Amino acid sequence: MRVYRFRQWRFHICPATFYPDVRFCCREKTEAVDLLTYWRLNERPFEPTWDTRFFFEGREHDEALSRLGFLVSEQSMLLGMLTGEVGCGKTLTRAVFTDHLATDRFCVVTQENSSFRFNDLLELVLRAVDGEPPSRRRGKLARYDSFLKIIERLAAEKRHLVLIFDEAQEMSPATLNELKQLTNLNRAGKSLLTVILVGQPELRERVARLPAINQRISLRFHLHPLSRAEAGDYLRHRLKAAGHPSGDLFPPDAVDRAYEASQGVPRELNRIAKLALEFAWVQEYPEVNSIAVDAVVRDLRQHQNLPQA
Ligand SMILES: Nc1ncnc2c1ncn2[C@@H]1O[C@H](COP(=O)(O)OP(=O)(O)OP(=O)(O)O)[C@@H](O)[C@H]1O
Ligand SMILES: [Mg+2]
Repeated sequence: MRVYRFRQWRFHICPATFYPDVRFCCREKTEAVDLLTYWRLNERPFEPTWDTRFFFEGREHDEALSRLGFLVSEQSMLLGMLTGEVGCGKTLTRAVFTDHLATDRFCVVTQENSSFRFNDLLELVLRAVDGEPPSRRRGKLARYDSFLKIIERLAAEKRHLVLIFDEAQEMSPATLNELKQLTNLNRAGKSLLTVILVGQPELRERVARLPAINQRISLRFHLHPLSRAEAGDYLRHRLKAAGHPSGDLFPPDAVDRAYEASQGVPRELNRIAKLALEFAWVQEYPEVNSIAVDAVVRDLRQHQNLPQA
């Protein structure tokens, strides 16, 4: 580990740091208060996790949640699709959505990695629902049979099966086609399961080339980056969720700079805000001002970690 001296602070360049290119991101102050105490926080507010406590319900996130809620409550809409720009909160939104589904009415299986072939995906779904060891099911027919039994059992319990496939842009056309076949399963005309595809913008294009699937997607929504006003609310919300009394640490001009550099993408906002919080702490600024945000943005741009202005 290399150690740099910068003013009165020692900087440790930690090889495991999440942002290895930014030199002031992982440090240790030799004296004075730690970052959390300095900013009156209980925990770090801008970590790249899917902790639903930090979920900010922006206008589009709210709309996505309502639409997904409608999709599964109808139980007759077969297929839904949540797409969105990279880093705009698809995965966190679907995590919040599944957290809110009542387990006595829904059985939810979420597949985080959808790049597998259909047979493997079905096997993972079966394992998630009934935990049966895979050795008992050899071949496609046996798997399909197990799946039928499961949805019959769930239907008898008056529970609807919801299958969510994240990163669905990785699915091959053949897998998408087989998934579509699953949505044919019904009892007295009532659908027994709902499939939700979640993925990056390529998913829309992929699906558009498969009319049989495209036509069955009865509900879709696309998440865009946050607006300028939402970016300020977003930063405030995450700071408050991390324990700050008011969440007001970024003055308006600092939010403007962070918004311009991130283009409103929450993942980029997190990166900038996290580093600016640390920079301003090291400099002992009273707030995370535009000088701190500019310094971070310059550094990220220099290392081509942000879109060029
Ligand atoms: N509405 C939100 N509220 C709080 N944090 C958010 C929100 N949206 C995104 N984030 C944060 O931004 C980061 C990226 O979010 P997420 O992984 O959900 O985006 P994504 O659209 O699924 O990205 P990808 O296209 O890479 O799959 C996460 O760290 C998440 O905590
Ligand atoms: Mg995601």
